[in-house]
Amino acid sequence: MCGIIGYTGGSEALPVLIQGIRLLSYRGYDSAGVSVWRDGTLHVRRDPGRIEDLAPNWDPDTLAGTTGIGHTRWATHGVPNRVNAHPQPGGEGAVALVHNGIVENDLALRAELEAEGVEFASDTDTEILAQLFARAYDGDPVAAARTLLARCRGQFAVAIQHHDLPDTILAVRRGSPLLVGLGVRENLVASDLRPLVGRADRVIELAENDIAVVTPTTVVVHDESGAVVERAIAPIDHAVRDIGKDGYPHFMLKEMHEQPSRLYELVAARVDPEGTTLRFDDLGLDDDDWRRFQRIDLVGAGTGFHACQYGAYVLETLARIPARAVMAHEYGARDPVLGPDVLVIAVSQSGETMDTKVALQPALDAGAATLGVLNVRQSVIGRMVGGVLDMHAGPEIAVASTKAYTSMLTALLLLALKAAQARGRTQETLQPVAQALWELPAAVTRALERFEDAAQAARDIRRADHMLFLGRGADAVTALEGALKMKEISYIHAEGYPAGEMKHGPIALISREVPTVAIATPGPWRERMLGNVREVKARDGEIIVVATEDDADARALADFVLTVPALHPLVAPVVNVVPLQALAYETARLRGCDIDQPRNLAKTVTVQ
Ligand code: AGP
Repeated sequence: MCGIIGYTGGSEALPVLIQGIRLLSYRGYDSAGVSVWRDGTLHVRRDPGRIEDLAPNWDPDTLAGTTGIGHTRWATHGVPNRVNAHPQPGGEGAVALVHNGIVENDLALRAELEAEGVEFASDTDTEILAQLFARAYDGDPVAAARTLLARCRGQFAVAIQHHDLPDTILAVRRGSPLLVGLGVRENLVASDLRPLVGRADRVIELAENDIAVVTPTTVVVHDESGAVVERAIAPIDHAVRDIGKDGYPHFMLKEMHEQPSRLYELVAARVDPEGTTLRFDDLGLDDDDWRRFQRIDLVGAGTGFHACQYGAYVLETLARIPARAVMAHEYGARDPVLGPDVLVIAVSQSGETMDTKVALQPALDAGAATLGVLNVRQSVIGRMVGGVLDMHAGPEIAVASTKAYTSMLTALLLLALKAAQARGRTQETLQPVAQALWELPAAVTRALERFEDAAQAARDIRRADHMLFLGRGADAVTALEGALKMKEISYIHAEGYPAGEMKHGPIALISREVPTVAIATPGPWRERMLGNVREVKARDGEIIVVATEDDADARALADFVLTVPALHPLVAPVVNVVPLQALAYETARLRGCDIDQPRNLAKTVTVQ
């Protein structure tokens, strides 16, 4: 979703801004733009499209200057075109402003400004911020920024230039994250860490309602009242430096292949090889807490929600605690019954998803215990929750989540084991599950070695318009995740269902033109899954089965078999999704889709 970069220093701003936009691209965007100050004028270029196509047309002479701001826009208000792209102008070019987030009272503010004679060129809420700032500015940029905070509702991170202010960028933060990177005689503003790495060595994370006035040699931060405040300066985590594809054609493929090492790291951090000692002292929850909880609610979105469903399943099965998964955006709406004996777990790769952040608020208000299963500890959600269970997936760049998903499942299973142990479940029940976790890295490696099987099946289904994915028990969620991967990156309409539901409606869809994927690995539900497979065959449907290597029944029934090693049925969903990731990847590749940045999607959804 939208990204912000700003630079002020001794170098030409344009190359820094273009590189920043490139590094922000992973968030997903449909247009981009820059503004550079020179000789009292803000020179702006903005266009729909990808930075690779736009940058060659941005003339370095016209855009010469050492202070500028840049942006990647993911359209919310108005179609992706030049006039709606950022930077948005205010005050007939006196102001250039870039914006992440949403102004919620935009219609009222627009009407008010129009009544005062302001003519809007774009459909964006961002132009309202730019015009409001331009009208409020009378030589004091902090006072004008305070007007934005006072008048606008919603979440917004903005970077602003004014043509009267050479070498100056104003950064204002409410709700959406915004950072100031500190370098040597140069400073930067950015919505996340990636574009800062390599130029800045320290970072200030602006707090809620902060206003920062940034020049090449000074950064002065004010709070909402206008008072100057001190904010902590942290060294930049160089682990995020140089994230490349390591020779893979796509980040998604690279990230799928990172799964074995990521899972090893996560398992090794939490459980010993014998599967007896679980280490969870860092979560702020002790055994009494686990015994006291009456219910666990898990909230997340998209792939995170699928992980929540699995988490609820294993928490209930293993720890015998009532647990439910709720889509984050639906959680507040149902007015959940909450109190100190409820634990709310937010599951999010980015830790920035607005829906998930908002879902946590009622839990915090009611004094419920909170936990984040996150990939980014230093994130908006990371700071809200009582404890963070780090999923150890490492930076995930491809929009379609792969390694974060398998890490989420594994983290939640580890947590369920911890809860079960604290609640007195026997070692005989838990140890086989804990030991199976250690088998995951090798099992996922083996599943990845069978990539060619998925490629073969993909050649067969590549022209399909619709698909069904079916699974049962803990693997019902694998069906949902497999379908999501397929629709996200190949644009095939794919439905995921718990297979027991099939006779209650979806079976009507079965035909030769609608391939079905069934997950039928060993476990209490395998026989019934094979029953579903037979039902599909009986209706002339094409069927792809995920099964273990020795499964002769599956081979006899299926058009294609995607094999995985046999694992404990509660652990198997972590490996069973791998061939479905491969199937989606290969299908999208054959269909010529943009695998890492699928259309309309953003990596981090920072608006509700
Ligand atoms: C996953 O493939 C999707 N891109 C999407 O569903 C994602 O999982 C969702 O937006 C939640 O993101 P989060 O994990 O960063 O909160």
